[in-house]
Amino acid sequence: MQWVRVLGTGSSVPEKVLTNFDLEHMVDTSDEWITTRTGIKERRIAAPSETTSKLALEAAWRALEAAQVAPEEIDCIIVGTVTPDMLFPSTACLLQHALGAKRAFAFDLEAGCTGFVYALAVAEKYLLAEGRGKALVVGAETLSKIVDWQDRATCVLFGDGAGAAVVGLGDRPGILATYLGADGGGAHLLELPAGCSRMPASFETVEKRLHYIKMNGNEVFKFAVRIVEEASLEVLRKAQKTVDDVKLFIPHQANIRIIQSAAKRLGIPEEKVFVNVEKYGNTSSASIPIALDEASRSGRIREGDIVLLVGFGAGLTWGAALIQW
Ligand code: ACO
Repeated sequence: MQWVRVLGTGSSVPEKVLTNFDLEHMVDTSDEWITTRTGIKERRIAAPSETTSKLALEAAWRALEAAQVAPEEIDCIIVGTVTPDMLFPSTACLLQHALGAKRAFAFDLEAGCTGFVYALAVAEKYLLAEGRGKALVVGAETLSKIVDWQDRATCVLFGDGAGAAVVGLGDRPGILATYLGADGGGAHLLELPAGCSRMPASFETVEKRLHYIKMNGNEVFKFAVRIVEEASLEVLRKAQKTVDDVKLFIPHQANIRIIQSAAKRLGIPEEKVFVNVEKYGNTSSASIPIALDEASRSGRIREGDIVLLVGFGAGLTWGAALIQW
């Protein structure tokens, strides 16, 4: 039997740190409010010249190096992102060229903060169907460029970064199961209204600040707590595993209260939950691969361990992947 295994991971975040105290000078907020409501203490902010593809490139090189795979060996590049360099060409094509991954086909995948889990699941199915090859799966964002820095309800939440994984076929267990879902009925809860076919860019859309993230935080919060539990149980059921088999739980890093509520509902003890939201805020599709890379490099995941990834986000979308390391 063949499995798709994670061969190496990498990540990259911008140098610039924006703390809660910095935000106190920008909008009517406080370190105390942000910390208690979200668990976030600081986030990274891309420089004006730092694009999503640049962050993706650094993360990808690190993942390739860890996997000891050359760019020419990659057959498929998928970038999960809601902040591409441009609407087209895709960030994945820019990345493919920058890497010199000449053999790879490349495309972006837009599934909000679930982008990386969606991309991982698609890559896994593709490699299994082909019966050969390697894929580079990336989650990369520069959310600071689409955040309304006058809106305290959203600007304190998000940050920039990228994470990547090289995956390939092997004869030992790797990705045990994936589970994806969507509900476009919740599209209005989290959106960037203008700039495309529904509301093309105009003076009016700029004046009304419609090129920035709009979110109904309370509704997204309720959805997130429910769906993290549901998606986790569903992927465990598909793999015929239980919560007790999970060595490390890596949920999307949006808010510490969402993470803690979901872990409690699942009965996963604190020491098995990976958290780095305090350092980076919500980096959307980059959050899970950055966490996965940090967990792997810091020795929190060892060979044979079962890792549970769960994402949720705009769409609405959700997804989980159960991986044996
Ligand atoms: N500083 C100070 N006060 C604030 C701030 C702020 N930054 N933001 C909001 N407030 C105020 C509100 O105005 C409100 O004041 P009021 O009671 O006078 O009206 C009060 O704080 C409470 O606001 P709530 O929105 O009820 O606060 P809540 O406890 O729900 O926390 C939060 C808000 C953190 C946004 C929470 O709802 C949340 O985390 N939601 C999920 C968001 C999320 O995960 N989004 C990402 C999804 S993934 C993706 O695809 C991007």
